[in-house]
Amino acid sequence: MAILGAKTFQNYIDGEWLDAASGETFESTSPANGDTVGVFPKSGPEDVDRAVVAAKAASEEWRLVPAPKRGEVLFRFAQLLAEHKDDVTDLMTHEMGKVKAEAAGDVQEAIDMAYYMGGEGRRLFGQTTPSELRDKFQMSVRMPVGVVGAITPWNFPIAIPSWKTLPAIVCGNTVVFKPATDTPALGERYVELFAQAGLPKGVLNIVHGGGSDVGQRLVEHPDVPIITFTGSRETGVAVTKAAAENLKHVHLELGGKNAIIVMDDADLDLAVDGIVWSAFGTSGQRCTAASRVIVHEAVYDQLASRLVTRVEQMRLGPGWEDDTDVGPVINKGALDKIHSYTEIGEDEGAKLLTGGEVAEGNGLEKGFYYRPTVFGDVQSGMRIAQEEIFGPTTALIRVRSLDEAIAVSNGVKYGLSSSIFSGDVNKAFRAMRDLDTGITYINAGTIGAEVHLPFGGTKDTGNGHREAGQAALDVFTEWKSIYVDYSGKLQRAQIDTAE
Ligand code: UN1
Repeated sequence: MAILGAKTFQNYIDGEWLDAASGETFESTSPANGDTVGVFPKSGPEDVDRAVVAAKAASEEWRLVPAPKRGEVLFRFAQLLAEHKDDVTDLMTHEMGKVKAEAAGDVQEAIDMAYYMGGEGRRLFGQTTPSELRDKFQMSVRMPVGVVGAITPWNFPIAIPSWKTLPAIVCGNTVVFKPATDTPALGERYVELFAQAGLPKGVLNIVHGGGSDVGQRLVEHPDVPIITFTGSRETGVAVTKAAAENLKHVHLELGGKNAIIVMDDADLDLAVDGIVWSAFGTSGQRCTAASRVIVHEAVYDQLASRLVTRVEQMRLGPGWEDDTDVGPVINKGALDKIHSYTEIGEDEGAKLLTGGEVAEGNGLEKGFYYRPTVFGDVQSGMRIAQEEIFGPTTALIRVRSLDEAIAVSNGVKYGLSSSIFSGDVNKAFRAMRDLDTGITYINAGTIGAEVHLPFGGTKDTGNGHREAGQAALDVFTEWKSIYVDYSGKLQRAQIDTAE
């Protein structure tokens, strides 16, 4: 049973469990029914400072531990997380609200990442190249940078911390981790299991608290050279500005306004499956959620009616109940924001096909439930087709051609994920080339990235970096190029090149 009642938790700094210096606390409550999940330290700058001192000291030793040994700790963590998959999953259904299968998927993504990055301990490949000169050797190696500040969101409360902390740690850095204030129990559980796996003290520290108290200090702290942040575009801009003073490396993963294109030659049953999964999975609270569906006019009416029929069969409820299709949204603020977009859509002249209201009855009023919502007759320039809603709302846009579909898909400021359903390989390859996003799916929805390929987006979705895959290593290391001259004489590059 995941409900922890009023149990009080602490920060984990330098291998010790500690209250906030101020002694203040905040509560985590379940979005499914309002139950208290736990009480957490409401930390401030002094707690961050303490964690940074610990992380900085630990990095002096951790960077010297052979990378394969660092990787072994990740393997043990993967095993522990797998052993605890059921209880962490259950906790996630309570604290974050997603349904059981998806919560298990979130934990699985972290297990996968731990095995993948654990393996990097035996790779972390650099390059060797020939030299222009005789009796000279040269190579590049990845070097750790130091203390990483990891600021994570509530929507993937185990997977996203794993994307940030695991590559950081296997590369020889140490971490100060600030989880979202909506999901502190999951952040705490993550760190607890990682510590049990044998991580030396100070390598991973957790400081609970809000963005203005903890996040801000982390971003400004001169001894934290890397910030990795997933969240809103606005906060991403603020993080970048605050980090500029110290010329920090900033990795950002921000919003999305992802679209599924359905062409006239698509398998419509498959397309409906993909839309339902991508638009309403995690109650639409994924950066990769399909909040737009761009449909060829020849199949628009058929697709719209099949989609609405399916959506109206979806059952809302707590994530831990087996027959729940759609769980709650994260909090009251999110519920209000999602509903305000329903009103905006109606005012803009879009046609509400289903949903559009807060769900009540059967105890749902105790949590934050919103009916899966589909708008039809949406124009590409409308706010509901441009702005990230981060809820179970999707907008159907009618188009006449592939060119128009691609232009509409690209006509937003974000560029995370995109998808096309078509039976025509030529159209699929056009889409792969021309959709301006970091991720493109063919005959699948917009969600479901795997850990061994880069994850991230173009345009305002980020700042050019990627998480996961080999690309993650670029965020958490700096290249060093090393030249070894064994000729015994001075050889001048670009000058002594005659022989
Ligand atoms: C996110 O929504 O921020 O591809 C992450 C996916 C998941 C990760 C989503 N594997 O939808």
